[in-house]
Amino acid sequence: MNVFHIVGARPNFMKVAPVLAGLRARRNITQTLVHTGQHYDVNMSDVFFQQLGIPAPDINLAVGSGSHAKQTAEIMVRLEQVVTDRKPDIVLVYGDVNSTVATALLCAKLGVRLGHVESGLRSFDRTMPEEINRIITDQLADLLFTPSEDGDENLRKEGIEPARVFRVGNVMIDSLVRLLPAARNMKRNGWPKHFALVTLHRPSNVDDSAALRGILDSLAEVVDELPVIFPIHPRTRQRILKFGLNPDRLHLVEPLPYVEFLALQTRATVVITDSGGIQEETTYLDVPCLTLRENTERPITVSMGTNVLVGSDRNKLQTELLKILRGETKKRTLPPLWDGHAGERIADIVCRT
Ligand code: UD1
Repeated sequence: MNVFHIVGARPNFMKVAPVLAGLRARRNITQTLVHTGQHYDVNMSDVFFQQLGIPAPDINLAVGSGSHAKQTAEIMVRLEQVVTDRKPDIVLVYGDVNSTVATALLCAKLGVRLGHVESGLRSFDRTMPEEINRIITDQLADLLFTPSEDGDENLRKEGIEPARVFRVGNVMIDSLVRLLPAARNMKRNGWPKHFALVTLHRPSNVDDSAALRGILDSLAEVVDELPVIFPIHPRTRQRILKFGLNPDRLHLVEPLPYVEFLALQTRATVVITDSGGIQEETTYLDVPCLTLRENTERPITVSMGTNVLVGSDRNKLQTELLKILRGETKKRTLPPLWDGHAGERIADIVCRT
């Protein structure tokens, strides 16, 4: 069987690695890895391939950045030739980025079987580009691999046949489990003993100057309690420059490699973020997480985990931060199937269906 994996953006490299490994252990499987080039900087892409032990992509479509329409269309055009020539038996896509939805549309039109890893997540907020990508990809996929029960439930409500849905658990946690020892072994490298770790890149938080200024001001207040380490996404850096903002109380650093960032997460007093994956990683690590969003497509991190949604409410951020500093942290239970074996379960299903 000829299995294609399509990835393009940073949050999905840690999801493809365990599935590649799971399928490598099976007989009669040929795998082809396609990188769309949605993320292309060394620190947004190559370094993740190295640390996660992912082989160099067989094909790089090198689409680069662009508007949603341009990026999505360009991926479809460039991938069409590859899929038509190489005729995969199944194409696997990951997460909710533009590379995911572009591939789903293309495969549906070409009649190629499609599997969606990390299916069924919903924020119910259609202003998020990722929510559109999730809904479309799930409607078009033949095999839907969900991380948790809420995913199955969301798909059922959207009329997707249960026979296409497979609850496999959280594949991103597979990579975390594998590389956690390396992260724990990392030296402190001059980082402070207690600190808040911040990431920020959602368009709703960073593309509007008033919203971004408000968040940076409230993070500056966090510095009264704890130093703030802020590995900065290229989108956010560009916006800070464009809007003439000056976050000089925050310790800005370049985007970090996977293991270095994991090491910081394990040692952080609190993580403040608008990322999806980081809400899950902090729950696994039992590190408090304050999420700068009004909603989450990963509600299990709130119901069972360490995550608290603070939205754009500055007072709530302060109140929750002070609670954490007083040791009043949420008690978390590890969600089911966050066990490091989701990639193997996906490989099993791909081989037998
Ligand atoms: C994308 C995903 C988002 C994911 C995020 C993780 C979509 C719709 N969005 O958002 O779901 O959470 O990745 O990072 O797919 N840039 C660089 N170097 C790079 C990549 C991007 O400088 O390697 C800059 C470019 O100027 C680009 C901007 O960052 O325009 C945004 O990149 P883009 O891929 O469009 O969206 P993200 O914000 O990264």
